[in-house]
Order: sequence, then structure tokens, then C-alpha cells
Amino acid sequence: MEKKRIATLSLEDGTEIELPIMSGTLGPDVIDIRNLAKTGMFTYDPGFLSTASCSSGITYIDGELGCLYYRGYPIEQLAEQSSFLEVCHLLLYGELPMAAEKQKFESEINRRTMVHDQLMSFYKGFRRDAHPMAVMVGVVGALSAFYHDTLDITNPEHREVSALRLIAKVPTIAAMCYKYNIGHPFMYPDNRLGYVENFLHMMFATPCEQYVANPKLVRALERIFILHADHEQNASTSTVRLAGSSGANPFACVAAGIAALWGPAHGGANEAVLKMLEEIGDISQIPKFVARAKDRKDSFRLMGFGHRVYRNVDPRARVMRETCYEVLAELGLQNDRMFEMAMELERVALQDDYFIERKLYPNVDFYSGIVLKALNVPLNMFTVIFAIARTIGWISQWNEMISDSERKIGRPRQLYRGPERRDFVPISERTKR
Ligand code: CMC
Repeated sequence: MEKKRIATLSLEDGTEIELPIMSGTLGPDVIDIRNLAKTGMFTYDPGFLSTASCSSGITYIDGELGCLYYRGYPIEQLAEQSSFLEVCHLLLYGELPMAAEKQKFESEINRRTMVHDQLMSFYKGFRRDAHPMAVMVGVVGALSAFYHDTLDITNPEHREVSALRLIAKVPTIAAMCYKYNIGHPFMYPDNRLGYVENFLHMMFATPCEQYVANPKLVRALERIFILHADHEQNASTSTVRLAGSSGANPFACVAAGIAALWGPAHGGANEAVLKMLEEIGDISQIPKFVARAKDRKDSFRLMGFGHRVYRNVDPRARVMRETCYEVLAELGLQNDRMFEMAMELERVALQDDYFIERKLYPNVDFYSGIVLKALNVPLNMFTVIFAIARTIGWISQWNEMISDSERKIGRPRQLYRGPERRDFVPISERTKR
């Protein structure tokens, strides 16, 4: 029998608390502090730097080695050999599909790509110049008002249908955000096309002109989708789990995830990379911006560099870098000014002691932004593309949490540093502060 492993915590008053040590299949052991609250003390860990918020069997990251696995499969193999819908099946159900399962799954997604007709009028409530991520938060959240026939979260079939609906409809909703923004009519999905090509069709075709997709570019976007599909307990996924822990419906939880993703430190980074390159403007300006990024008094950071977990290399960035070169070669854009600047910035930063010491490498969004620009995706849609890809991760993690017998409402504690108890003073008696 395996020996019970214990960590001992000694308090100031001499009390010793024994805390069990838990092991996962891979990765570091964790100290189970659940019983600590009984002592009246809590741990303090802003930003969850040392805290595992849940146990999960979906995605594994080794930040030191630069590994990312979905259900055990290395991301490089999936990006090379798999399709996005196969990856969705893997994340949601735990296994790559057999041939018949793949066909069934694809048809389950296909027949749900259209959105409720009334949802279309929902868009009219938004200003046309609204950021598409703002519209995404609203419209995806509103799905719960249109598809409330499957909102019983205790029913596995309801959860599955909601997941399929989200995977199928989010690309349609995303493309509609773009069409509304530019004043074009919405394009219905064409279910003869594959998932990624269908999205490009809804984005770029018009009722008067067909969009003929270049297979190499479709494959590049499919890779972006696969690489962004899940990333264990990041800010947006943790938001989805926290929202879901109260029993909220999956559409509302995914809308919360979209809101968290929007931030420039998370999914907004791909958009921020391009904005930064535009701001830099010319290769000659790179040293000035690198110096600013290193200056603690300056809030400027090199967008697309660094990662909370990857302290070696972001394996997604490795694949995306390759794809980036392929796409630019296919489109004859190798001498594009923006791309040249990006490559020079990468070169300068990788040789700079500040970035080397802090292990700040280009992350996936450094390259995905360049690829999306080459694909003619407008800047304000970059993070929306990330949201389409991450929907499967969010819903798989949400589903895992709901099925977990150890699930509890997420309710962190705090270290209170506000005023001590004081009595109310009527306004006439308040003296100057
Ligand atoms: N440029 C310049 N300095 C940086 C950068 C950067 N991009 N990132 C981190 N640092 C410095 C930071 O100032 C700190 O320096 P010091 O030790 O002197 O105080 C040190 O590196 C550690 O940084 P941190 O803020 O403690 O690291 P973190 O783990 O809290 O933040 C991060 C991770 C991704 C938020 C951060 O690296 C960042 O803001 N990067 C730019 C935004 C970005 O590209 N985000 C996309 C992440 S990948 C997509 C996704 O998964 O969402």
C-alpha cells in the first residue's frame, strides 16, 4: 500500500497541522490545505501563483519543459495531424473519435450552425462601431434566453446539447459581429463546408460574391483554433468555472469567459501585438521600445512576450511560428514591413539579458496576430477568433466541473486590510477627515 505523504505546517503558537500531499498523473504534487480553514487561518495567494483551484483531466502544461497536452496528446501532434472538430471531440469526451463517431459528431455540429432567427435582431441594439468582443459577450450570454430548453445543468444530455450548440453557433455569432460592424448582410452558414472554411465563408462571402478559400490558409486558421482550444486553468477558464460553480447556465458562464479573455494580458494580446507593431512603426524604433519595456517606471510591455506558466518556450508559439512563415510565403508577404518588424523584435528581445533572465519568450499570440493579419482578419476580430477556439475548452472544463463530486461553489477568502469597527456618525456631527 502506498505510504500516506504529509506536509507539516508549524504555527507561531507551536501548533502543528498535518496536510496531506496529493499527486496527479503528471506534474508537481500539491498540498491539500482544505482542512486549514478549521484552524481559523487561510492561505494568501493573489493571482493563484501557488494554488491549484481544481483537479482536472483535460489539459496538462509543463511550463519548464514547454509541453502542452490535450488529454495526453502533445499539441504538436494534434496541430500537425488532427482537425479542430476532432480536437473538440477529444476535449469534450476524453478520446479522439472513431470514424463513425467523427462523422456523427461533425453532423451534430453541422446541424446546429444556424442561430435563432430572432437573435439576428438582437444585433441591431448595438452600435455598429462597437468592439466585436463587446457584442460577443452580449450575444453569447443571450443564447440562454433562446435555448433554455437545455439548461438543466444536472442533466448530462442537456449539458451535451448546450456544448454542441456553443461549438456550432459561436463561429456564426462571431462572423455576424464582423458583418454587423462593417454594415454587410449576415451570411448564413453553408454546411457543405468544413467548420473552419464555413467560418471564413460567413466572414468574407457576400450574397453577391462567393468566397473561395485557399486550403493552405484554411489549414493555418485550423491550427490557430487547435492551438487555442484549451489551456488548463487560465484566467478565462477559471472565470467560467467560478461562474459555473454557482450553478449558472453554460451560455452565461461562457459569456463571462469571453469577458475575461478580452483583457490585453490574456486573449487581447494578439490584437495588442499588432497595435504595438503599428506604434513602433519602423525597425529603427525597436531599441527605443525594448528599452521602454525594460524600464520599471514605464508601464509599456512587449505584447506577445512572456507567460505565467511557460518559463522555457511556449510550444504553441513554436508551431505558430512555423505556420506564420508558411502563410507569409504562400501570400508572398515575406517582405511585409510589419512582419519584418516582428522578426527583428523577436531577434532583439531573445538576445537581451532582461528577457533572458526573466524567461520572457514570444508566446503564441505574438505569431497568431501576424498570421491573422495576413489572412485579412481585421484587428478587432483577433480576440474573437481566440474566443471561437477557446469555447470548446471552456465548455469541456465547465462540464468536467459540474460532473465533479467534489464541486463546491467557488468562494475565495481574503486578507482584510480595511478600517476596524467604527460607529456611524450623523452627517451634522461629522468633523473634517
Ligand atoms: N514585457 C516586458 N516585461 C515583462 C513582460 C513583457 N511582456 N512580461 C513580464 N515582464 C517582466 C515583469 O515586468 C516582471 O519584471 P520584474 O521581475 O523586474 O518585476 C517579470 O517579467 C515577471 O512578470 P510578471 O508580470 O510577474 O509575470 P506574470 O506571470 O504575472 O505575467 C503575462 C504573465 C503574460 C501577463 C505577462 O508576461 C504579460 O503581460 N505579457 C504581455 C501580454 C501577453 O502577451 N499576454 C498573452 C499571454 S499568452 C495568451 C494567453 O494564454 O492568454
